[in-house]
Amino acid sequence: MQEGELNAFPFVISGAINFCMENLNLGRQEFGDEKNKGNTMTRLEVSALLDEWISNERLRVHVNQVGKLMYSWAREQENLDEENAWSWEMAGLLHDADWDKWPDQHCRKIIEELESRNIDPEIIRAIASHGPAYFGVEPRTKMDKMLYAFDELSGLVHAYSLMRPEGYLGMELKGVQKRLKEKSFAANVSREDIRDAAERSAVPVEDLIRFIIAHQTA
Ligand SMILES: [Fe+2]
Repeated sequence: MQEGELNAFPFVISGAINFCMENLNLGRQEFGDEKNKGNTMTRLEVSALLDEWISNERLRVHVNQVGKLMYSWAREQENLDEENAWSWEMAGLLHDADWDKWPDQHCRKIIEELESRNIDPEIIRAIASHGPAYFGVEPRTKMDKMLYAFDELSGLVHAYSLMRPEGYLGMELKGVQKRLKEKSFAANVSREDIRDAAERSAVPVEDLIRFIIAHQTA
């Protein structure tokens, strides 16, 4: 894959967002209804929604990767049970669900959809806060913070895997760190968001990268 193609990754919001940055501000901090706590969608329902809303294959890969990272983190680092880890995974799978069809209403559409389905406010809020600079929503919970932390960094690691003949095989921390420093590589991946997100999550960037390398596949 050529550098130009990497930079054209549609899921990297920071580059394509200039045209509508102002409009993406959600203008509120609370989402969903407390009485819906614990309500999730089934895996089949999530898949059906993603099938309907996302036709871009690379975006589909991205949301699956972030979903898997969220699940793995919830299970391994937060010691959550399957049910709670599914909430984390759901947030990862759906965070960019509306990006393909409605880029100028990114986040707004999926939030409205989840609110209409009476989904747990924690999941909706995690999605709403995955880009504080754009949506104007501060990540508060650990779920919020980890989604923000994984989002762009997962994309950068994936971009790196696409330019390696071996893909993910034998990938090392220092290789990713080198690409992270190289501003021209996957230039639309916001280094500032990566730094800010890691700081808020209180997980060092190196540890996030190590986790991604260990859990992310093509
Ligand atoms: Fe994303």
